[in-house]
Amino acid sequence: MGVLNNKVAIITGAGRGIGMETALLFAKEGAKVVVNDLGANPDGSGHEKVADEVVAEIKALGGEAVANYDSVDSYEGGINIFNTAMEAFGAVDIVINNAGILRDKTLFNMEESDWDAIMAVHLKGHFNCTQPFVRYIRETNRLNCRIINMSSVSGLIGNFGQTNYGAAKAGIAGFSRSLSMEMAKYKCTVNTISPGAATRLTIDLMKAAGREVNPDDWSQGPQQIAPIIAWICSDEANEITNQIFHVSSGTVGIMQQPAVIKSFKSEELWSMDQLNQLMPDLVEAKKTHDKEVEEKGKPS
Ligand SMILES: NC(=O)c1ccc[n+]([C@@H]2O[C@H](COP(=O)([O-])OP(=O)(O)OC[C@H]3O[C@@H](n4cnc5c(N)ncnc54)[C@H](O)[C@@H]3O)[C@@H](O)[C@H]2O)c1
Repeated sequence: MGVLNNKVAIITGAGRGIGMETALLFAKEGAKVVVNDLGANPDGSGHEKVADEVVAEIKALGGEAVANYDSVDSYEGGINIFNTAMEAFGAVDIVINNAGILRDKTLFNMEESDWDAIMAVHLKGHFNCTQPFVRYIRETNRLNCRIINMSSVSGLIGNFGQTNYGAAKAGIAGFSRSLSMEMAKYKCTVNTISPGAATRLTIDLMKAAGREVNPDDWSQGPQQIAPIIAWICSDEANEITNQIFHVSSGTVGIMQQPAVIKSFKSEELWSMDQLNQLMPDLVEAKKTHDKEVEEKGKPS
C-alpha cells in the first residue's frame, strides 16, 4: 500500500529529469499517472514521444499510466492534458506543473522570442494546466487535492543571464501564494518546489561552474526531488500549504517568503532628511536578517 494509493496525478514534462523521476515514484506509491511531455529540446524546439518510454516503464513495474504529448504553453493543451486524465482514470487529485525549458541570455542579447517562449511554457503553462483542475475541484467539490508548482533559485534569489526565466519562476511563486488562498476552502494545498538537480537543463551549467557532475548519485540527480513531492502529496501533508521547499545537494529546506523585516512610521510626508536617516537603518536590518537566515538555513 503506497502513500498515494488510487490518487490520480498529472505530471507535466514527465518524460525526462525531475518529472520522470516523480512519475516513477508516484506509480510505485500507488498513483495513476498522466505522463505529459512534448518531448522538446532544452530550448523548447522540436518534439519526441519520450512520454511513451516512461509509461512503458511504469506499466512494466505493474503501475498505471497514460501518455499525453500536448504542449503546456497553449490553453487548449492544458485542457487536453486534463481531459486525458479524466478519460483514462475518471478523476484528478494532483497536478504537478513541472515542464520547463531554458533560453539563457543576458537582457542585452535577448530576443523577444526568448522572453515569450519562457513566459509561455513556465508562467502561462502553470495557468493553462491548473485552471481546468481548479474549476473541476469547485464543480465537484473534490477535497484534499494537491497542486505542486516548480520555481527556481533563479526566480527566488536571482541568476545571471536568466531575466526571462527568473521573472517567470518568481511569477510562479506569486501564482502559488495567491492560489493557495483561493483553494483553502477546498482543502487543496498549493506548494512550490525550488529544485537543484543534475539534468540536461543544468549539467552543462554545473560543469561550467567547475563542479563534478554525476546524475546517478542520488544527492545530485533528479531522483532526490521526487520523494519530497510525493510526501507533500500524501495525507501526512494535509495541513501544509503556501510553502516553498528547496531541495538540492541531498538537502531539503524551507524557504522564507517576502515579509517586512523592519519599518518606520511618520506623522507627516517623508522628507529627504528623514529618509537619509532611516533608509540606511532599513538596509542594515535587512543585512542582519540575511546573516541570521543564512546561519539558520545551514543543513543539520
Ligand atoms: N534541474 C534543476 O536544477 C532545476 C532547477 C530549478 C528549476 N528547475 C525546473 O524543474 C523543472 C524540470 O526540469 P528538469 O531539470 O527536470 O528538466 P528536463 O529538461 O530534464 O525535463 C523537462 C521536461 O519538460 C518537457 N517540456 C518542455 N517544454 C514542454 C512543453 N511546452 N510541454 C510539455 N512538456 C515540455 C521536456 O520535453 C522535458 O522532458 C523545470 O520547470 C525547470 O525549470 C530545474
